[in-house]
Amino acid sequence: MKEISDYSRMVEEAIAAKRYGAMRPSSLYEPVEYGLQKGGKRLRPVMLLMAGDAFGADTACLTDAAVGIEMFHNFTLLHDDVMDRSDMRRGRPTVHRRWDENTAILSGDTMLTLASSLMRQVPDRCLRGVLETFDAMAVEVYEGQRLDMDFEERNDVSVEQYLEMIEKKTSALLGASARIGAYIAGASEADCALMYEYGVKLGIAFQIQDDYLDLYGDPATFGKPIGGDVLNGKKTFLTVSALGLGDRVADEVRSGMALPADAEKIEKMRSVYDRAGIPEICREAIARYSGEAVAALNATAISEENRLPLEQLVDRLIHRRK
Ligand code: IPE
Ligand code: IPE
Ligand code: MG
Ligand code: MG
Ligand code: MG
Repeated sequence: MKEISDYSRMVEEAIAAKRYGAMRPSSLYEPVEYGLQKGGKRLRPVMLLMAGDAFGADTACLTDAAVGIEMFHNFTLLHDDVMDRSDMRRGRPTVHRRWDENTAILSGDTMLTLASSLMRQVPDRCLRGVLETFDAMAVEVYEGQRLDMDFEERNDVSVEQYLEMIEKKTSALLGASARIGAYIAGASEADCALMYEYGVKLGIAFQIQDDYLDLYGDPATFGKPIGGDVLNGKKTFLTVSALGLGDRVADEVRSGMALPADAEKIEKMRSVYDRAGIPEICREAIARYSGEAVAALNATAISEENRLPLEQLVDRLIHRRK
C-alpha cells in the first residue's frame, strides 16, 4: 500500500518534469516555477491521486489532472497574496514582493490557463465531467474570495455566513480534487458525491486550522506572517465564534478590531480569544468536521484497506503546524 509520502513524491516528480522554469519569456515563467516550487503540502494533488487510486484508476490518467489542481491552487495563492497584502508564504517572499503586483497578476493568469490545459489531458471518456467540476469549482473559489474581502468591512458576520464563505474559497477545491480522482477512476455518481463531501468537510476543518495557525502558529514553521488576518480585519473562525458568545465578548472583539493595525492589536485579539476559550472551540470544530469527512469516506464503496491513506491524510492535516 502507498503512503502519503509516496503520493507527494509522485506529485513533486510530475511537477519537476514539466520544467516550467525553462519556458520563455522567463519574466513570465520564473514566477510560475517559483510559485510551484517545493515547500507546499501538495494536499490537493495528493488527494486527487489517492481518490483515483482508491477506486482503481490507472495512475497515468491521473497525473496531469493532479498537477493541474496544484497549478490552480498556486494561481489562487499568487492573487490571494496580493488581495491579502501578504509578504511571506512557505517561508519566502510572496511573488508580488519578490517581483511586483503586475507579475503576480499575469503569471497567476498564466497558471490558471495552464491548469485548464492540464485538466484537459484526462481521457476523452471523462473530459466533459472533469471540466464541468473544475469550472464550477473555480467560480466558487472566486465567489468565496469575494465574500472573504467583503467581510473585512463588516463586524456582524455569523458562523453560518463564515462557513458559506470558506466552503467556497477553500472547500470547493478540496471537494473537486477528491471528486475528480474518483470520477477519472469511473466511480459511481454516489461515490463521486461522497468523495466531494469528504473533501468539503476536510476543507472546512483545514481552513479553521489555517485561521487558528494564523494567530497561534509559529512563524518559522507556518511560513506565513502571524497575525495577518487580524491586521486585515478578516472574519476568521476565531472572530465569528467569539462574536457569537454573547454581548460581553462581542463588545471586546469589536473594540479590539477597531484598534490601529499593529503588533499591539495582534496581542490584544489573542488575549480576547484566549479568555473566551476560542482555541478549544477551534479544536472541537476541527474534530467535528474531520469526523464528518471520515464518515463520508466510510460510506463509499472503497475497501477498508484502500481507505487508509485517505484517513491518514485527515489525521495528518488536523495535527499540522504548517
Ligand atoms: C493555503 O493552502 C490556502 C488555504 C486554503 C488556507 P495550503 O496550506 O494547502 O498551502 P500550501 O500549498 O501547503 O503552501
Ligand atoms: C485561502 O485563504 C483561500 C484561497 C487562497 C483561495 P487564506 O487567505 O486564509 O489563505 P492563506 O492563509 O493566505 O494561505
Ligand atoms: Mg485570503
Ligand atoms: Mg491569504
Ligand atoms: Mg489564512
